Parts: sequence; C-alpha cells; structure tokens
Amino acid sequence: MSFQRALVTGGAGFIGSHLVERLLEQGLSVTVLDDLSVGRREHLPTEARLVVGNVCDPDAVRQVVDGADVVFHLAAHVSIRASMQGFLHDAQVNVMGTVNVLDACARAGTVRKFICASSMGVYADAPSAEPISEEHPTRPASPYGVGKLASERYVQLVSREAGFESVCLRFFNTYGPRQSYTPYVGVATIFVRRLLAGQRPVIFGDGEQCRDFVNVQDIAQANLLAMQHDGVDGEVFNVGTGRGTTVNRLATMLCARLAPGLKPSYLPAHAGELRYSVASIAKARRVLGYEPEGDLERDLDAVIGWCKEQR
Ligand SMILES: NC(=O)c1ccc[n+]([C@@H]2O[C@H](COP(=O)([O-])OP(=O)(O)OC[C@H]3O[C@@H](n4cnc5c(N)ncnc54)[C@H](O)[C@@H]3O)[C@@H](O)[C@H]2O)c1
Repeated sequence: MSFQRALVTGGAGFIGSHLVERLLEQGLSVTVLDDLSVGRREHLPTEARLVVGNVCDPDAVRQVVDGADVVFHLAAHVSIRASMQGFLHDAQVNVMGTVNVLDACARAGTVRKFICASSMGVYADAPSAEPISEEHPTRPASPYGVGKLASERYVQLVSREAGFESVCLRFFNTYGPRQSYTPYVGVATIFVRRLLAGQRPVIFGDGEQCRDFVNVQDIAQANLLAMQHDGVDGEVFNVGTGRGTTVNRLATMLCARLAPGLKPSYLPAHAGELRYSVASIAKARRVLGYEPEGDLERDLDAVIGWCKEQR
C-alpha cells in the first residue's frame, strides 16, 4: 500500500517532529495537528503544514483528517508520573483525544491506515530485566498506561468496523534531540540538564530499575515500516532495542562525561513506575524488518549537544 497524504497528531513534539521529517523525505505531504502545549513550531520543517488545534476538538480534527490517507496519532499528555496525580486530564487527552481522531477517520472515508503511538506503560511489571514480548500481561500500573491500553482497544475495534487498517506501536523509553524538558519525562534529558547546571542527577528508588532506551530515529523508522508493510492490520509491536540499562548505569555514563566526581542523589521511588521494562523486538524484526541502529552510549552526545544548544 502506498500513501500520499499523512496526518501526524502531536507532530510538533519530540517523536512526532522526527517522524514528520522522515515522511517528507519519503515524498508524502504532511499535515500536523498540535496544540503546541509541549511541541514547538520550530521543530517542524517548513514543508509540513501545521494546524494549531486540540485533538479533543471535533471540528479541528475533522478538518485535518479530511483527505489524509494515513494517520499517525501521537498527540498525548506524556507522563506516567503526572497521570497519577491528574488522571482526569490524562484520560481526557489520551483516551478521548484518540476516540475523537478515530471518529473523524471513520467519517472521512479517505483514511486507509491508522498508526497509534502506544507505550510500554500498558504492561504489568516484569519479573526480571529479561525482554518481554507483546504476549506479556497487560496490567498497567499507571492511569497513563490504562489510557494507552484503552486507546489500543478503541483503535483496533473502530478501525475494523470503519474499514481502515491499524497498527499499534508500543514505544519504550525514547531518547534523542528535541525531547521537551519537563521534570517528569525523559530521564536522559533530565539528567543531562541537571549535570549541565552543575546539579546532581536525582534518582527515584535505588536506581536498579531497568529501561530499554531507544533512539528516536529508530522509533520514526518503526512508524515508517508500519506504514509501508501490508498484512499487519490489527497488530501490536514493541519498539525498543531488546537491551536493558539501569538508571544507575545511565547516571554513571552521564556523570563521567559531564561532571566527573559528581554522584547521583536518591529519593523514594514513585508509585506507578515499572521496575523492569525491556522490549523483546523479535516480532517487529520478523514481521516489519525493524532493526534498531541506535546505541545509547554513543548517542548520548547528541542529547548533550541538544541540551547545550537550548540553554
Ligand atoms: N517519549 C517516550 O519515551 C514515549 C514512550 C512511549 C510512548 N510515547 C508516546 O509517543 C507519543 C509522542 O510522545 P513524545 O515523547 O514525542 O511527547 P511530546 O510531548 O514531545 O509530544 C506530544 C505532542 O502532542 C501535543 N499535544 C498534547 N496534547 C495535545 C492536544 N490535546 N491536542 C493536540 N496536540 C497535543 C504536544 O504539544 C506535543 O507536541 C505520545 O503518544 C506518547 O505517549 C512516548
């Protein structure tokens, strides 16, 4: 299946803006719907059409969906920790926003594929740092994870009824340039910012929690593969690297580069955060031909460079 007109919700954000660049390189015309609550206009190439609007606003969504043949739905309120405190807002944006975009797609009649940004937050905590497959139990530990799982189910059901294809991609911890700075999201960016300011990284818990850090370019690539591949309707894929890194290890790598001698400080663990979260990417490899090229240790320089530019 080939596509010409893409809509990317949340396209001015961290992952979305990298995806937009890649879609433009593939020759698609790209419309972005983003309320710029986090995303930034300057993240987008001038060739992309930006419509500033809310995914929860039916009129705004209807206008941008009209004529699109592939939709990448990334707009979301992205924070596990914030969702514990503000689960109403999380659900309004992440669940109702998804439902609203799906409703517009079902009505438009032009959409042939819908690719949904889901998350490792849908999974139950794993017993160890062994990679987990898509068959691992889905028992979210946070409202954010509940919303992502509900979104997946809506996407699969509505797309089947409305007659367009869907793919849900469960992204793991994504790092890279352009990650917005908030105290809640993107541990690599948060640590780099603190170290550049001469402050110690703060670790919640003992730091032995294990994450699958995946380069944003690999996430963008997985989205392209999901668009290009036929025969993946209704499928769910993990998108990570298959390798786990503890938060202590990440802090050690960054301290060594930016502030040798500085040590992290520790605070109590937060509710809702998983202990072990490492993706098995066997299915994405086998079915989509996904092969991550990122290397955390090497690619941290790009994150550091970006954070220095932003200061
Ligand atoms: N970054 C990660 O590690 C990670 C991991 C798993 C899943 N994801 C998912 O990937 C997607 C993109 O995340 P990101 O890291 O690029 O975050 P981001 O915050 O940079 O991007 C989200 C974008 O959505 C926009 N947005 C938020 N609410 C909106 C609304 N109501 N209407 C319109 N636009 C709105 C924001 O302005 C932002 O540009 C999200 O769906 C997120 O849940 C991210």
